[in-house]
Amino acid sequence: MTTATITPPAVPEAIESFTVTLMIRRFNPEVDAEPHWQDFDVELYATDRVLDALHKIKWEQDGTLSFRRSCAHGICGSDAMRINGRNRLACKTLIKDLDITKPVYVEAIKGLPLEKDLIVDMEPFFESFKAVQPFLVSQQAPKDGKERIQTVAQRERFDDTTKCILCAACTSSCPVFWTDGQYFGPAAIVNAHRFIFDSRDDNAAVRLDILNDEEGVWRCRTTFNCTEACPRGIQVTQAIAEVKQAMMRGKP
Ligand code: SF4
Ligand code: F3S
Ligand code: FES
Repeated sequence: MTTATITPPAVPEAIESFTVTLMIRRFNPEVDAEPHWQDFDVELYATDRVLDALHKIKWEQDGTLSFRRSCAHGICGSDAMRINGRNRLACKTLIKDLDITKPVYVEAIKGLPLEKDLIVDMEPFFESFKAVQPFLVSQQAPKDGKERIQTVAQRERFDDTTKCILCAACTSSCPVFWTDGQYFGPAAIVNAHRFIFDSRDDNAAVRLDILNDEEGVWRCRTTFNCTEACPRGIQVTQAIAEVKQAMMRGKP
């Protein structure tokens, strides 16, 4: 009789965790005259995201910490914030990509009224968005009564700007917007671009006229902060340049 040798199952290696210090700019309008920094030590894994760190703080240390988030997967656009001085989505920023030998600084995006902790009033941002008519306007019914056909080349003209999730990371990173809150801002121009270059739309001239305003596209100084900040990789500055060129041509 032979006896089989049974290899014991491998013991999985423990995943290393470490303590990360987050410095969060706090503001409670009911008690604070000015925002102030507060530090929190959190036990995290390399694959955690800044959003996970904020959740741990809120659930385990300070339930008053306020921030917006919904999808947690880079789709809803609600958790844009400044992380180490750069506009990022907290749910798309991995701890392993940050230098955790130093505190990680987290604060609300700039240029919009601060409401509480990491929450800003998005209303001025959405006012600019609404002002550029971000919807299809067509004066004619589709030929077969069903679809408005478009070629691949026609669709490509505005493909990039369809990706916008309205997170405001671009607009709130723009120095022109910081100094002049009246500027439409890159996000509104991106969403105008999405319809100006759509062959099915008939209102490009109206949108170009709106953006030809004193606070429109000509305020852009080609700083590129917006393109660097966009979590969707949209070529924001290029879209603004294309809108400027359409204005000079007088058509898309
Ligand atoms: Fe956010 Fe990019 Fe849209 Fe700007 S263009 S609102 S950064 S997704
Ligand atoms: Fe501002 Fe972007 Fe123009 S950062 S100045 S909108 S290129
Ligand atoms: Fe939705 Fe980050 S929580 S984009």
